[in-house]
Amino acid sequence: MKTIHTLKTCSEVEQSLWSTRENGKSIGFVPTMGALHGGHISLVERAASENDVVVVSIFVNPTQFNNPNDLVSYPRTPEKDLELLEKTGVDYVFMPSETEIYPQPDTRTFNFGQLDKVMEGAHRPGHFNGVAQVVSRLFDIVKPNRAYFGQKDYQQLVIIRQLVRMLGLSIDIIACPIVREADGLAMSSRNLLLSPECRASAPLIHRTLVEACNQIEQMNVKDMIGWVEARVNQDKNLRVEYFEISNAETLEPVSSWTDAENIIGCIAVWAGSVRLIDNIFLKHSTKG
Ligand code: PAF
Repeated sequence: MKTIHTLKTCSEVEQSLWSTRENGKSIGFVPTMGALHGGHISLVERAASENDVVVVSIFVNPTQFNNPNDLVSYPRTPEKDLELLEKTGVDYVFMPSETEIYPQPDTRTFNFGQLDKVMEGAHRPGHFNGVAQVVSRLFDIVKPNRAYFGQKDYQQLVIIRQLVRMLGLSIDIIACPIVREADGLAMSSRNLLLSPECRASAPLIHRTLVEACNQIEQMNVKDMIGWVEARVNQDKNLRVEYFEISNAETLEPVSSWTDAENIIGCIAVWAGSVRLIDNIFLKHSTKG
């Protein structure tokens, strides 16, 4: 088991990583908001297998919460997070205060064009601007060679790739597969907030997406959207907020299966008062 160094300030990060950089060693970075689960651990393990040094950040970023109640109820489990990380290949855990990340209010606005006008961006105004603020700030502090993001937050991944291009950063953004519970529910920190009834209903989301994927020969795009919404909504504990079928690169909605090489279906569902997201590639040009 490695000794983990916990860092609280930007200057501690700078001092700790200075010699790593001087010696030409690579830094892999996993930004998180804590309440860690198997999905995060898979990112850390991937980072450890591809880099000399791994840094994980734990910071619940207020600027990406459009709903103040969501920020208050977001799960926080710092002791358990550190225990989990001890079993992985992480070297440094950066746990900054809010003033360390934002010594002054961050007033920057980012223009992502169409990318943040749909799905999460449309339903959570300002969310991706807040994500871009914190991620750009963390990239500036940690200066990683590679950064790791889960594909569950697919739109976030596309937007962060765009952010890196916009800022001209030489950081490789590595997308990692969704990690699921045994019953198919995508792992998420928010799963901790589900009532037992909603937890029992939630696997229907992924099951429905898989069934939809198996039917693309039989259904057009419009019918599939209606079919998925109706099937999930049949469960009294679940309420679909959106199901969008989109070009996986531009995130523009498609109207036919021939509109794009890569097509993704992204869903957001209310399970009681908890909002869950998931997605599935419905058409993939590299799929064998
Ligand atoms: O995906 C998350 O957990 C957050 O959006 C991130 C990337 C850590 C930024 O706060």
